[in-house]
Amino acid sequence: MKVARLTLSDRASAGIYEDRSGPEIERVFSEAESGPIEWLRIVMPDERPEIEALLRRLADEEKCDLILTTGGTGPSPRDFTPEATRAVLERELPGFGEIMRVQSFAKVPTAILSRSTAGTRGTSLIVNLPGNPKAIGECLPLLIPAIREALRHLR
Ligand code: MTE
Repeated sequence: MKVARLTLSDRASAGIYEDRSGPEIERVFSEAESGPIEWLRIVMPDERPEIEALLRRLADEEKCDLILTTGGTGPSPRDFTPEATRAVLERELPGFGEIMRVQSFAKVPTAILSRSTAGTRGTSLIVNLPGNPKAIGECLPLLIPAIREALRHLR
């Protein structure tokens, strides 16, 4: 399986702080998956056109099975991840964002600030996760059964 993890953060990409969310995606997902995974690891700033171009390249040219983004899903002026994702999707799968917000809300009332979404482009599944490393552990395990099933449908 080819999986891209894409950290979208002005500060992490400038080295102002360390990217902990990308490695956390890799840790949580690898723990759940038994087969071999080829990882593409990317950290980039919150620049909408560049994010869209990269998502297109990861789906169309790199043929990633799965693209997991982290960050840029909130209400700040520089949060563009859901817009960039929607712009490249062929089919939106809104349930991924909905379940993350619902399930996290009980523990973390600020979970409703995340506008994350998901969907397909060609044979790739793209899923937005919130930027906080703790949120990866809270959200990604919930999504694994649906990610597996979606990938079966896309092959
Ligand atoms: N979801 C979970 N499970 N845990 C969290 O700590 N943080 C929230 C939300 N979702 C959070 C969460 C906060 S404070 C924000 S602003 C939004 O995710 C968006 O974060 P992002 O812009 O880094 O993607």
